[in-house]
Amino acid sequence: MTAKTLANLMRESNRTVVLTGAGMSTESGIPDFRSSTGLWQNIDPRIVASTESMQKNYEQFREFYQGRITALDNCKPHQGHVILADFEKRGLVSIIATQNVDQLHQRAGSKNVAELHGNIVTVRCQKCGKPHAKEQFLNNNICTYCSGKLRPNVVLFGETLPMEAWDRTLHEIHEADLVIVIGTSLEVYPVNQLPSMSKGKLVYINRQQTSTSAHYSFDLVLKGSAGEVLADVHRELEKLKK
Ligand code: APR
Repeated sequence: MTAKTLANLMRESNRTVVLTGAGMSTESGIPDFRSSTGLWQNIDPRIVASTESMQKNYEQFREFYQGRITALDNCKPHQGHVILADFEKRGLVSIIATQNVDQLHQRAGSKNVAELHGNIVTVRCQKCGKPHAKEQFLNNNICTYCSGKLRPNVVLFGETLPMEAWDRTLHEIHEADLVIVIGTSLEVYPVNQLPSMSKGKLVYINRQQTSTSAHYSFDLVLKGSAGEVLADVHRELEKLKK
C-alpha cells in the first residue's frame, strides 16, 4: 500500500527532492554511523573526523580516512542507487541531496547530486587547497606544492558545508512538492533542517523510526531497507504506466 502511495505522489509531483544518508549505502557494504553496527559505536567522531583531529592527531585522522577510502574499492551502487538514477532520467526526481561521501549515486548514473558533506574520493592540501590524487593521501605523501597536510574533501565536524551544494539544495527544497528522505537519522545539523523547510509532502524511508525523525510530521513512512523499498516503488510506477 505505502509503496503504491509513494508511486502516486511521485507521479503527481512536479519537483521531487531526494535526501539521502548513510542508510542509503549500507546495502553496498558501507557502514552507517548511528545504528547498532554504525561507525560511531566504536569510534568517537571528534577523535577522527573533526578539524581538531586533523590538527592535533593527524596520523589517526589520516588512518581513519585511508581505511574508508580503500574500503570503497570493494563497494558498488546497489539497486536503490540505480533506481534513483532511473527516476532522475524519467524526470521523477530533480536532485539528490546526499550526506554520503562515497559517490555511489554518481556511480549509479545520477547527474544532479549535491554532496552536502563533500566526498572522500577526492583530496586536497589543507594548507594551500591544491587538489591531489587520492593515492598521494593513501601513500602518506605531503602537498607537492607547499608540503602541507593532505586531506579528503569531506566536510569535517567543525567545518561549514560547501556553499554551492547547500544553496542548490535550498533552492530545490523551496520549490519541491515532494521530499523523500532515505536512510538518515536526521541527527546532524544543518541537513536535518531541510525537510521542514519544504512546503511539499514529506516521505521517510528508513529501517527504523529514529527518535529524531519522530519529531518530523512525515506524510508517509515506509519502514524497510532502502533498496527493497525503492524496488517496490519502482514496480508500482511500472504498473501505473500500463
Ligand atoms: N535502509 C534504510 N535505512 C537504513 C539502512 C537501509 N539499508 N541502513 C541503515 N539505515 C538507517 C539507520 O537505521 C539509521 O536510522 O539509516 C539511518 C542512518 O543514520 P546515521 O547512521 O546517523 O547516518 P546519517 O544520518 O547519514 O548521518 C549524518 O553524520 O557522522 C555524520 O557526516 C556524517 O553524513 C553523516 C551524518
